[in-house]
Amino acid sequence: MKIGHVSDLHVDHGWRFDIIDCLIDEVNKSDINVLVIAGDITSGGVARSTLDLLRIRRGIKVPVVFVAGNHEFYDTDFQVEQSLLDSEYLLDLFRGGIYWLENSRVVIGDVLFVGGTGWIDGSWHNIHKEKEWHPEINRLNDFRLIQNYDQTLKHGQELRELIENTNSLEVDNMVVVTHYMPLKRLIHPGYYNDGPLNWCFANNWTDTFDRLPVGTDWICGHSHNRSDVVEYEGVSIRQNPLGYPNENPFRQNIIECFEV
Ligand SMILES: [Fe+2]
Ligand SMILES: [Fe+2]
Repeated sequence: MKIGHVSDLHVDHGWRFDIIDCLIDEVNKSDINVLVIAGDITSGGVARSTLDLLRIRRGIKVPVVFVAGNHEFYDTDFQVEQSLLDSEYLLDLFRGGIYWLENSRVVIGDVLFVGGTGWIDGSWHNIHKEKEWHPEINRLNDFRLIQNYDQTLKHGQELRELIENTNSLEVDNMVVVTHYMPLKRLIHPGYYNDGPLNWCFANNWTDTFDRLPVGTDWICGHSHNRSDVVEYEGVSIRQNPLGYPNENPFRQNIIECFEV
């Protein structure tokens, strides 16, 4: 199977309103079998991102695997959006080629995809209680713009358990998809040694990697840093964010591809 992947399209950022058309065109000229989008299509809720996903799916011939980013929940209530994702209506809407992984798994061909947003779960910084969080934390948009943000902690922990348990299924090919980065070493090099809040941008799931089959691929986003493939404990970690217009110039190839 050939997989094309991208993250952080941020289509609501000005001049990128045509980015979906460019993506559709590129996918249709490629020979990929599945398109993976690792979060942050746009800001403002499940319904808004759903429309973009439907537009993409309508234009291409291959299934789409999607996980929500943090921006999907901006200006919303996390609990309310979760209820939308649980609804049968949404499943009906997506039946036919869009797989919105929300701490869930799907098999496409001979590949098992497991994924979710991968919210910060305290594996880097020990956040068991909100009062232990850094006092500057409210400067960050995630904490300001997502109501009931504290519920994301458990959501991240549940995904980590799901990924670790997926190993017991003994699948031949496994692709993990998260929005947040699973290792602190993946933090953007411009920020790596800076600031007490870096742990708000990545988990540090080293133990999880110990339990994954060698040859697993892990697609993530969020850093807006397009990097080479990082190999860790036999797992290939792939990041291909488009990012904001002021961070990355428009480029001809939106998706990166690999074979499993
Ligand atoms: Fe992003
Ligand atoms: Fe993000």
